[in-house]
Amino acid sequence: MTDTEYPPISEQLDDLESARTEGRRKMDWAAQHMPILEHVREEFVANQPFEGERIAMAMHVEAKTAILVETLAEGGAEVAVTGCNPLSTHDDVSAALDTHENITSYAKRGVDDDEYYDAIEAVIAHEPTITVDDGMDLVAAIHEDYPELIDGIIGGAEETTTGVHRLRAMDDDGALEYPVFAVNDTPMKRLFDNVHGTGESSLASIAMTTNLSWAGKNVVVAGYGYCGKGVAKKAAGQNANVIVTEVEPRRALEAHMEGYDVMPMDEAAEIGDVFLTTTGNRDVIVEEHFEKMQDGVLLANAGHFDIEIDLDALDDLAADRYEARDGVEAYELADGRRLNVIAEGRLVNLAAPVSLGHPVEVMDQSFGIQAVCVRELLENGDAYDAGVHDVPDELDKEIAEIKLEAEGVDFDSLTETQRDYMGSWDHGT
Ligand code: NAI
Repeated sequence: MTDTEYPPISEQLDDLESARTEGRRKMDWAAQHMPILEHVREEFVANQPFEGERIAMAMHVEAKTAILVETLAEGGAEVAVTGCNPLSTHDDVSAALDTHENITSYAKRGVDDDEYYDAIEAVIAHEPTITVDDGMDLVAAIHEDYPELIDGIIGGAEETTTGVHRLRAMDDDGALEYPVFAVNDTPMKRLFDNVHGTGESSLASIAMTTNLSWAGKNVVVAGYGYCGKGVAKKAAGQNANVIVTEVEPRRALEAHMEGYDVMPMDEAAEIGDVFLTTTGNRDVIVEEHFEKMQDGVLLANAGHFDIEIDLDALDDLAADRYEARDGVEAYELADGRRLNVIAEGRLVNLAAPVSLGHPVEVMDQSFGIQAVCVRELLENGDAYDAGVHDVPDELDKEIAEIKLEAEGVDFDSLTETQRDYMGSWDHGT
């Protein structure tokens, strides 16, 4: 492996041994609940599909991701990994990963912008043949700063909505120079991870960070996409009164028909107790909204980047600012109102001090798809041109079948007659 200036986590921690032990413990717990990756790992260990490949990863480095990283490494790859958010890394897990002979982990929690990008560069210095991203930072850095590596890259896989958005924009501009699978867009990922994962873990993180109840609160969910639907449903399930804001008419209508109150953020700002943004867009809650909010509101974001709540504007408005609790920053306005921002407006289910990210079972599905996408790139990479690609449906179904079997759930299959009927057009009334 290439020597780089930015050191792996093992050279950055003081109490390395105890960090490794604790990280391993977290990973062992996760692994017990990840039957899909266990299944895939057995196949990879036997077949060594990634022998000689170098996989670069920028993801939320915590226990579940670590099992994916190990699974790829045990399939024969050399893996270099770093974080995809300055606050989502678990240093102990990163340290445990870094003990594996095929893995170098540069991920560290609490890095500043320079360190964050130095770590990305350190990963790229391994000269990857495959990239696995959550948010597209690796693809962007390679195209902008290391285009000479592109010829050696077979392809990539992208985990999240925002990353896929960025990739599609890049593809539309003709600027994406290798194939990338939109892992986010498969049913096995977004109908579970974005909906249930974000719903459960965002609400759990906010509740644990604040020690406050959902029941009886006005919870404003900005964006009724996959994540917003999950958040709204789980908040309603905990007896909150859910208010949805949207910019897309069909999604606004869907929220209305689900029984939620739908209104512009301007109106919601006046009555909300908790605000949670899930849009993947910027400037969703801004100064004019802060001006109208009640004393004591909670503000949190579950979208990929920390630009959904305009914290610069809030800072300008604030007469005082202090840490109200671990993970909660109170912005006190001149009139005495306190607006409480959780996890610095970074994705709340991963970046609050108590956050653990999505439930393990959900990430088993998402990462199962990631793993078979990497396998697909190596087996059939030539079949994919530069650009964004949907994950082949057979791969998505393969993961669903492994999961159903692990859960002991049997299901029907089509008879020959039914298959013929579904493929025909000439059977009318
Ligand atoms: P999506 O595209 O399904 O939904 C986003 C929704 O927000 C759309 O309906 C859109 O019309 C709406 N929207 C856009 N601008 C808006 C505005 N100004 N006001 C109100 N609504 C607006 O996307 P999805 O899958 O729900 O992802 C949303 C974000 O969450 C992305 O940044 C994604 O990367 C991130 N994400 C975060 C996860 C987490 O663990 N916290 C997990 C999965 C995705």
